[in-house]
Amino acid sequence: MNSFNRQGNSVGPWVDVEAGTASRAIFTDEEIWRVEQEKVFAKSWLFLAHETEIPEPGDHVTRQLGNDPVLVVRGEDGRIRAFHNSCVHRGVKLCRTDAGHSKNFTCPYHGWIYGLDGKLQATAYPPEVAEKIGESKSSLIEMAQVDSYAGLVFGTWDETAPALDDYLGDSRFYIDLFANRTQGGMEVLGPPQRWVFKANWKLGALNFAADGPHAASVHGPITYLTLQVPPELILQQLINSPAVVIGKGHNCIFLEYPDEAPDYAGFSPDLVPLYQQKLNAAQQRFLARGLTKVMTNFPNTSWVESSVTFDDKTPPIPFCNLRTWQPLSAQSTEVWNWLLVEKEAAEEFKQKSYEIGIRTFAAGGTFDQDDAEAWAAINLGCRGSIGSQYEVDFRATKHYRDQPIENFPGPGVAYPSTFSEMSEFALLAHWQKVMSGGES
Ligand code: FES
Ligand SMILES: [Fe+2]
Repeated sequence: MNSFNRQGNSVGPWVDVEAGTASRAIFTDEEIWRVEQEKVFAKSWLFLAHETEIPEPGDHVTRQLGNDPVLVVRGEDGRIRAFHNSCVHRGVKLCRTDAGHSKNFTCPYHGWIYGLDGKLQATAYPPEVAEKIGESKSSLIEMAQVDSYAGLVFGTWDETAPALDDYLGDSRFYIDLFANRTQGGMEVLGPPQRWVFKANWKLGALNFAADGPHAASVHGPITYLTLQVPPELILQQLINSPAVVIGKGHNCIFLEYPDEAPDYAGFSPDLVPLYQQKLNAAQQRFLARGLTKVMTNFPNTSWVESSVTFDDKTPPIPFCNLRTWQPLSAQSTEVWNWLLVEKEAAEEFKQKSYEIGIRTFAAGGTFDQDDAEAWAAINLGCRGSIGSQYEVDFRATKHYRDQPIENFPGPGVAYPSTFSEMSEFALLAHWQKVMSGGES
């Protein structure tokens, strides 16, 4: 029976790092979910948008961070700000469109008008009433800090949170491999896709932190077919490729090409010289040898990139996928899913990369359908009054935890196998620290 007793609180500990286990309740319990909103989501830096979604002053997108609507706007001064997307009069959700361009925002209920900087510009009250309610000093509730790295806009509600660069820390080395590898940077391919799966957000974040073994079983034949690598070889590469505990809750795995594969297999030859100009030697090595790389930035921003084909006559095309796992409730999650591509890429390549991304990691993508079914099945297995008393098993970490790779060429502590579960479990260990108020 479970060694995790609630002991009258909801912050745990729910993760036993020494034993390599965690309580199943962390995936199902509504009270833990509620505390998580305060301890994790209200304090972390959360991904909001890619700068190319809102290139001009007045451009804006609306986002959903957990249960909170957020409005992300580029102001007249070029600065990107993020506001709680609700009118300060009676709390009505202010901007209703997913994306748009405007000079200001008018509340549909009583007509209060806000500028791009969030300041209240006008109401219908007579001047003496407007003065009384402090109209000229009112503004939308603004996120405490908004900053960007490599075109990726993050925000936090916590004014005491460390700067974004500190928060991302060494993960910037790996983010560069996805999103900062040419001089021009990346652009989004269309608006984000959104869908809901019936399970806890951490199951997505953990899977991308990342779970190597499931690629061989859950995705099975589609993996072998789309990556065009024989099954035995995929399994061998998964067992022998590194899992990296980057630090600060950020984690990744690299599925490496077999030695006989050429460098930059699967990448567009036109873009390779641009990677070589932008990335340092160690980063180039990772990019050149990586068949698939998967990462989660704590708490809920994840990445996957691979080169895939659905047709054995066509060479694989790379796609680059960025997503967030928005916690709607303890047992339901909304995925927000972007596909990125190098600005310098040819239009035909952009279109192909988009199609491959949509067919693999998107609402109707083959891999996402496989994963969502597995995560919903975890929910079914863990949510009951009996099931939730037990644990989930990361005991493979006990075998690997004292065997880091020496002289690993990237930052963080790397372990020799994606089967080590070290990087996944490190995300949960960090989550536990943050839930206990120890780190953010
Ligand atoms: S609720 Fe927005 S103007 Fe009244
Ligand atoms: Fe998967």
